[in-house]
Amino acid sequence: MKVKIIYLLLLAYCSMGCVKATDDNKVMSPDGRNAIILSLNSEGVPTYQVLRDGKTLINSSALGFIEKNDINLANQFKLNDVIFDSKDEAWTQPWGENKNMREHYNEMAVNLKNNRVNLTLRFRAFNDGIGFRYEYNVSDTDSLYLMDELTEFNITEDGTSWSIPASFDTYEILYSEKPISGIKDANTPMTFKTSSGVYASIHEAALYDFPEMTLQRLEGLCFKSNLAPWPDGVKARKPNHFTTAWRTLQIGDKAVDLINSGLILNLNPPCQLESTEWIEPMKYVGVWWGMHVGVESWTMGDRHGATTENAKKYIDFAYKNGIRGVLFEGWNEGWQNWGGNQRFEYTVPFADFDIKEITQYAKERGVTVIGHHETGGNIPYYEAQMEKAFKWYKDLNIVNVKTGYAGGFPNGLNHHGQYGVNHYQKVVELAADNHMTINAHEPIKDTGIRRTWPNMMSREGARGMEWNGWSEGNPPSHHVILPFTRLLSGPMDYTPGTFDILLESSKNSPKHQKWHALDKGNSRVNTTLAKQLANWVILYSPVQMASDLIDNYEGHPAFQFFRDFDADCDWSKALDGEPGKFVVIVRKAEDKYFLGAATNEEARKVSIDLDFLEPERAYKAIIYADTDKTDWKTNPTEYRIFERVVTSNDKLDIVMASGGGQAITFLKMK
Ligand code: NOJ
Ligand code: CA
Repeated sequence: MKVKIIYLLLLAYCSMGCVKATDDNKVMSPDGRNAIILSLNSEGVPTYQVLRDGKTLINSSALGFIEKNDINLANQFKLNDVIFDSKDEAWTQPWGENKNMREHYNEMAVNLKNNRVNLTLRFRAFNDGIGFRYEYNVSDTDSLYLMDELTEFNITEDGTSWSIPASFDTYEILYSEKPISGIKDANTPMTFKTSSGVYASIHEAALYDFPEMTLQRLEGLCFKSNLAPWPDGVKARKPNHFTTAWRTLQIGDKAVDLINSGLILNLNPPCQLESTEWIEPMKYVGVWWGMHVGVESWTMGDRHGATTENAKKYIDFAYKNGIRGVLFEGWNEGWQNWGGNQRFEYTVPFADFDIKEITQYAKERGVTVIGHHETGGNIPYYEAQMEKAFKWYKDLNIVNVKTGYAGGFPNGLNHHGQYGVNHYQKVVELAADNHMTINAHEPIKDTGIRRTWPNMMSREGARGMEWNGWSEGNPPSHHVILPFTRLLSGPMDYTPGTFDILLESSKNSPKHQKWHALDKGNSRVNTTLAKQLANWVILYSPVQMASDLIDNYEGHPAFQFFRDFDADCDWSKALDGEPGKFVVIVRKAEDKYFLGAATNEEARKVSIDLDFLEPERAYKAIIYADTDKTDWKTNPTEYRIFERVVTSNDKLDIVMASGGGQAITFLKMK
């Protein structure tokens, strides 16, 4: 009887794809708290486990790939040798949440071999998590057709998770909070908290020439990699040797430890660019929201947004308010093909947009024009013009480009497959060759490549502000999930800053027209005004947009926060928070500090230690807060501005209304 039970247990365990270990090798993080164990069973199948403080966090989990022509990338491996290494190095980046970084890890490279395949499994254990990748080398073949990745993340204990479903084409899906065991599939970063209180997030780092990894739950708590395929079902086409992206697991005691982690950047190679002084973080405004809220159009006509006249108005506004960039969408021929053949002409402005005059006008005022390449997903048409288009922009002194991929890729190709990953990278490298920067919408997810390619500034890759213009919008909890999920991967061009929360100025405008199928006439922004300010700090982007119609900022006292704000911060720290509930983040830029706090639907008071301020200095804190009558549903625009003198010894009570937030500027006093 006893034997039968053990046999059944073993059967259940093995049917989950988790194989018993026989031969163990181990690497620990520098602080000894995270451990990775690599095992090889009697069939030569490698598996790994992750331990946190000696307790299993990831149970024995499979490793390997399946190849179309039965080249064995999965088993019959023998251990050649194991090589240990470690690194502790400081490095700096031209911009980022933190300009000074520390790369500190212990490494274990496990060299395996079967009859045709050499495989190095490279594991790195950091204090803030772990990463591992595959390095394959196969003899007697030129090409490999990867049909499946076998990597598992066999989470030991159930708990709570925050993720979006897996999709190979979009990340613009609302996040949900579920038991880990309740997830069917997920895109990464997939964040979770185990019932014993460990926070972790699964993602990948340094994704090149490979499809993205999504996660599929097999059984229990065992998640398996599911790569975005080519139309013929092959997941990745590679030569006889290849290195994968790092599979990563950020680990922390507190939820904010995940935000403060540098793991993803540390697993990317150093900067490849010879010089970086041409890369400029900035604040920007643009002809953008008017189209989303239906008072302007991307195409030429009575309601055209990108006209020379309107462009000058925006440039004047930027100049007056110390804002460096102005974006113009709908400036080029092709928008009339929207939803049709998606053919955009990247060097042909609409007749009412005098691009030479506009760039000259901007230059005279110290303002830079941000270009826009919407592809509508028509990649072949874009790729055919790309080189010329970047050069053409460069000649006009337009060196920062927002790209867009709103629309399906042709021939069944998806946004996040190997083809897509390679396309997005091609654009980054072409831009770098021209000393130009990229802000991609509908992008491939960030995997920290900005360390290597710091001209890759920001991306969308989640539901941004636009959804509030023409749909039921993003709920209050959205902005307090994003920092613990999407933003773990890198900066986001969310484009916060709508002051006209109820969109009254556009809804009441005679120019207003419904243009989006999801628009039920009740669209609005689901936050308080103070939370809009806070999001400029919380939702990190080195290019930070004040996205509302500029008329809604004119004369508005709360806009002073954006005037003071500096998108080029030097240091950041997430001070407190829980995914889906609230978050408090502070950033320092030169002498100034900016703090953003936000809550979900619940009103909340959070007490914050100001010990991040320079000691023995007095600071003027300018506080933009909800009032006791503010409520995101019924009274979203009520706010108050008040000042206090504080030092690093003080504590501050941050009081937030339902769906609210708070933003603070700290200015050093003489
Ligand atoms: C979707 C992008 O996210 C948005 O910012 C842009 O305005 C439209 N596509 C049109 O390009
Ligand atoms: Ca979008």
